[in-house]
Amino acid sequence: MPDSTLAVPGGDRVCGPHRLVPPPGGRHVVDSSFGGLSGHPLRTAGCGATGRFAVGRLRPSPPPPMVDGIAWWVRSGHGRSRGGGTTGGRATACQTEGSRTNCWLSIRHRGARILPRFVTFATFGGNTTWAAKCSTRGGRVQMDHRKRKPIKVSDVARLFGVSRQTIYRWIESGDLAAYGISMFRTPKGEPRFYEDEVLAAIERHKGPGMVPLRQLLLQTGNVERGKVIAVANRKGGVGKTTVTVNLARAITKATGDRVLVIDLDTQGNATRHLGFSAEEPGLNRYELTVADLWQLAPDAPGRPLKEIILPATEDERLWLAPMDDSGDEIDHAANVLLLKIAAGEIRAGASAMEEVLGQFYGTLRERLNELLTVEEPFDYVLLDTPPSAGTLTTIGLLAADAYIIPLEPEPFALQGLDTFEQLVEDLLRIPRHDAPCIGYVLNYRLHRAGLRDEVAAAVREKKGSLVFTTMLRSDVAISEATDQGMSVLDYAPKSRASEDFLALAEEFLERVERIGRSGAQKKEVVG
Ligand SMILES: Nc1ncnc2c1ncn2[C@@H]1O[C@H](COP(=O)(O)OP(=O)(O)OP(=O)(O)O)[C@@H](O)[C@H]1O
Ligand SMILES: [Mg+2]
Repeated sequence: MPDSTLAVPGGDRVCGPHRLVPPPGGRHVVDSSFGGLSGHPLRTAGCGATGRFAVGRLRPSPPPPMVDGIAWWVRSGHGRSRGGGTTGGRATACQTEGSRTNCWLSIRHRGARILPRFVTFATFGGNTTWAAKCSTRGGRVQMDHRKRKPIKVSDVARLFGVSRQTIYRWIESGDLAAYGISMFRTPKGEPRFYEDEVLAAIERHKGPGMVPLRQLLLQTGNVERGKVIAVANRKGGVGKTTVTVNLARAITKATGDRVLVIDLDTQGNATRHLGFSAEEPGLNRYELTVADLWQLAPDAPGRPLKEIILPATEDERLWLAPMDDSGDEIDHAANVLLLKIAAGEIRAGASAMEEVLGQFYGTLRERLNELLTVEEPFDYVLLDTPPSAGTLTTIGLLAADAYIIPLEPEPFALQGLDTFEQLVEDLLRIPRHDAPCIGYVLNYRLHRAGLRDEVAAAVREKKGSLVFTTMLRSDVAISEATDQGMSVLDYAPKSRASEDFLALAEEFLERVERIGRSGAQKKEVVG
């Protein structure tokens, strides 16, 4: 390995923009003409309640032959760094000998030389990234000279195929360390790992315990985060979309909480109901749909849910993840995957197969976990599902903590319901996903009494206290609101529909609260 020396001539500080100028005879010289740490992003990043501070960052131009660039952050518990002011230092030299690099730093704070207690030293650029956690002695930093790529929690999560929350849990439980993955922190306190260790651990421990489908099971219910509720019924036109959109809005009105509606129906009714459309004039546009969560083509990687969601009301309490017929690709992709397996085109081992399929069915839940636990404080997520027990409904149910079923009290209401519930139970049993039905909403969509009351009574007799006390009365304001592209609570706040949805929200919140308390109570939410 060739020698490489970086030297800082003159100047007391290594903060601010630096340029590496071409070295005479293999020496790389850092031009340290800069204006101190004030205003530098690292200053904000480094100074804070902890009293740590970042001392310098060097940006390469042009890159030296061996290290493409060099950056270091110095953390110090030195009291004088607190409260701002200019903190500076000087790298006198950085020299590589065999497998080690020695770096001498002279760090100054208000004119006095201070000793950093800890230095994170990273080189970056091109494909080469090295990093080392170093301790300092007399201002000299020694770093182990292996090529290592520091990666973030999100990268580790991606490599394992689990959510970031899972990684945080593994950090806390010591599982990552047990897998042989060491962790260090940036001056901001963010965890970093070495890619080679993570890849080696995945290789070593590859097995059923680490594939996404299993993770999906492990993650059920034990993370305190917003609750995800699917609104489902295989029967069409019973009010799934109406309930999803207006219940979501009623929750925001009643509690001030933030609620996200995810449209899983490729008819895009919830999307339209909330005033979004791909082409209808006068409505809001969207760029991405829920379908973009999946990597459906090799050159189109799955997008995070955060990039897909849009505020759907002015107060920004209600948000929407839109959908249109682009979602048909998901069904198609599932069929293609299964057909390829059936045709023997995919001949991977069982665990690889589990991984492929697990990722497919687990994507929405994974993305939701990321969104709810790490990125966005949504309190509730409501999923509008299509009138089927197909792929998207399954994906929704696997992502949900519980589901509710809107029913129209008409003679055939109960017919098919048992079958649907049986199918759902069957599906969820395979990955042992525990998402109970927490309520039936009787929706008197059409004005007609008589037989309908009889049917409602039959439903109550059969389903007992699982039927919500609040029934939705027929109200033309609902379809008018739909046409206007807004919830009925925004369109006609004084309508009886608004009144009904607020009452339903109250009951709903109480039931959801009960599933939240403990996993064991999930099955007996009501009664
Ligand atoms: N209580 C109600 N009063 C008046 N109209 C209603 C009521 N509930 C629903 N509707 C209307 O009935 C129609 C069907 O409702 P909705 O779209 O919510 O059903 P869905 O179950 O989502 O249908 P799909 O299965 O096609 O997704 C809509 O036009 C809606 O405006
Ligand atoms: Mg619908």
